[in-house]
Amino acid sequence: MKVNINGESRSILAVWYEDNQVKLIDQRKIPESIEIYTAKNSDDIYYAIKNMVVRGAPAIGVTAAYGLAMAFKNKEDMDKSVKTISSSRPTAYDLFKAIDYMEANKFSESAARRYALEITERSRKIGEYGNSLIKSDDRILTHCNAGALAVVDWGTALAPMRIAHDSGKKIFVYVDETRPRLQGAKLTAWELQQEGIDYSIIADNAAGHFMKHKDIDLAIVGADRIAANGDFANKIGTYEKAVLAKVNNIPFYVAAPGSTFDFSLKNGDGIPIEERDENEVLMVNNSRLGPVEGHAKNPAFDVTPHEYVTAFITEYGIFRPEELKKLYNLIQDDLFMR
Ligand code: MRU
Repeated sequence: MKVNINGESRSILAVWYEDNQVKLIDQRKIPESIEIYTAKNSDDIYYAIKNMVVRGAPAIGVTAAYGLAMAFKNKEDMDKSVKTISSSRPTAYDLFKAIDYMEANKFSESAARRYALEITERSRKIGEYGNSLIKSDDRILTHCNAGALAVVDWGTALAPMRIAHDSGKKIFVYVDETRPRLQGAKLTAWELQQEGIDYSIIADNAAGHFMKHKDIDLAIVGADRIAANGDFANKIGTYEKAVLAKVNNIPFYVAAPGSTFDFSLKNGDGIPIEERDENEVLMVNNSRLGPVEGHAKNPAFDVTPHEYVTAFITEYGIFRPEELKKLYNLIQDDLFMR
C-alpha cells in the first residue's frame, strides 16, 4: 500500500519478515502515527494478535505463518508455539489455515514467505474480479477494515475499490465507523485517504438511512470465516447491514480468499464468536460511557445467514451462495489450499 510519510509517498506492507523477526504495522496507533511492532518469539505473536496490533483474518494468518517460522528457527518447543498462537483469537479461519499450512511444510521460512505471497497475490485477484462489479459513480458501503492492513497488501473488500479507482472509475465509499474498536473510522478511512479515494465516515447506525435514500449502490465487506452454505462471520454489525441491504434491494458482496472458507462447517451455527473485554465498549478515549458500575457485552463478530449475500468475490471468481460447491471443488484442486 502507498503511504504518505512526512510528505513522501512510500510503499509498505502490513506484515513482513526481516532478520528473523516478524514486523507489523502497529494498527492500534493508526491514524495518529505509523509505528512498527517487532515480534521476537511466539509469545510476542500471541500478544500482537490477541491485542490487535495486527488484525483482519488474512493478516492474522500471515502473522502466524511468519511467527511459526521464526519460532522454529529459534528452536522453540513447536507444540507449545502452535498451541500459544492458535489460542490468540478464535473466529478468523485464516489463523488455523496458516497453522496447518506451516505444520504441513515443516515450519520453514520459505513456506511462510510463500504463504504471505500467495495471500497477497490472491487478494489482488479478488480486487480484479470485484472491480467488474463496480461502475463509475458507484457509492459503496463497507464495514470494519478489510483493506491492505487486514491482509498484507491490497485488502479483500477494499481491493476492488483500489483497482476501480486506479482504473479511473469515480467511486465514493461510505465507511461504517465500526464500534467499538473503530476499524472503519481509523483504518479504512486512513487507507482510502492514502489512495485518494473519496469517502465519508458514517455512524454505525446510519447505513439504513442512506440505503433508504438511495445513496448506496452496493455493499462490499470482508469475512472472518465462511461456512459451506455461505453463512459467514464478520465484524459485529455486518448482519444488520446485510438485512438492510436486502430490504432495500442493494447488492451485498463478501470478498474473501479461499483461506477464509471453512467447509468443515455445514452452516454458520458452528462458527466460534469471540467475546472481547467489556472495556472496549465502556471506555472511549479513556473516559467511561455510562454509570461507573455499568457492564457491557462485546461480541466481536456476528454471523450473517447466506440468504443475505448476493455473491462471494474470491480469487477463483465470483460465486453466489448456491454455487459454493463449485468453489469447494476448485479449492480441493488447488495445491496451495489443500
Ligand atoms: O476484529 P478484527 O478487526 O480482526 O475484525 C476484522 C474483520 O471483521 C474483517 O472484516 C475481516 O477480518 C476481513 S479482513 C480482510
